[in-house]
Amino acid sequence: MKPTLVVFTGAGISAESGIKTFRDSDGLWEEFDINEVATPQAWEKNKALVLDFYNKRRKQILEAQPNKAHDALVELEEKYDVQIITQNIDDLHERAGSKKVLHLHGEITKSRSTVDPSLVYKIKNAEIRLGDKCEKGSQLRPHIVWFGEAVPMMDNAIIRVEKAAIFMVVGTSMAVYPAAGLIDYSPPQIPKYLIDPSDVKINGIANLTIIKEKASVGLPMLVKDLLK
Ligand code: OAD
Repeated sequence: MKPTLVVFTGAGISAESGIKTFRDSDGLWEEFDINEVATPQAWEKNKALVLDFYNKRRKQILEAQPNKAHDALVELEEKYDVQIITQNIDDLHERAGSKKVLHLHGEITKSRSTVDPSLVYKIKNAEIRLGDKCEKGSQLRPHIVWFGEAVPMMDNAIIRVEKAAIFMVVGTSMAVYPAAGLIDYSPPQIPKYLIDPSDVKINGIANLTIIKEKASVGLPMLVKDLLK
């Protein structure tokens, strides 16, 4: 059996595919107010604005391509059972070819019923419009976890992290909980790596190697080492 390698990714891994991060200096949350576009209250207040925000994000993501960092994680599958846990709502890990991807914060390519959360649909024409309805007649919303909402995939993610033989963190500011707390469930004795060009605030983690590089540089280097 291949050893389990868990990779926790954030917006930084898709930055070099041209998708903006959230908290860097030109990040999305500089341009948009979280409270106006990414909360249940925003949805109640102005559905058209929220749909427009995510329709624009979806368009950009569909035009983007996976980069060398996404590709490097696919190579790792030769030797490891690679389990990606991503905070990203893009589908670049899947398009690169990674087989096991868990989306903690939802998926931009999908819509969801507002009366029955188990009704999730692939978006066909790249947009959700006002008036688009689920099979039970409710307005469709983006299949995204908004601020203030529970993170239903968290329990699943924890089970994976607890079984890791190697744990990697790539391109996340570790600012958003509960996701950022996942690293605390990794076994203390296993090797851990963090790849990010900036200083990420992270304390009290044993066996952590910090690689201060962009994902497209640091990840292919580390993958080459791990495949030796
Ligand atoms: P952030 O924008 O908070 O952090 C992005 C991280 O990527 C920073 O640490 C950057 O230094 C790093 N970075 C930038 N360019 C990079 C590159 N080329 N290679 C590697 N790293 C790079 O994004 P997240 O941590 O993903 O949630 O944000 C977490 C959550 O906050 C998101 O999932 C989203 C957001 O609000 C929701 O929308 C629910």
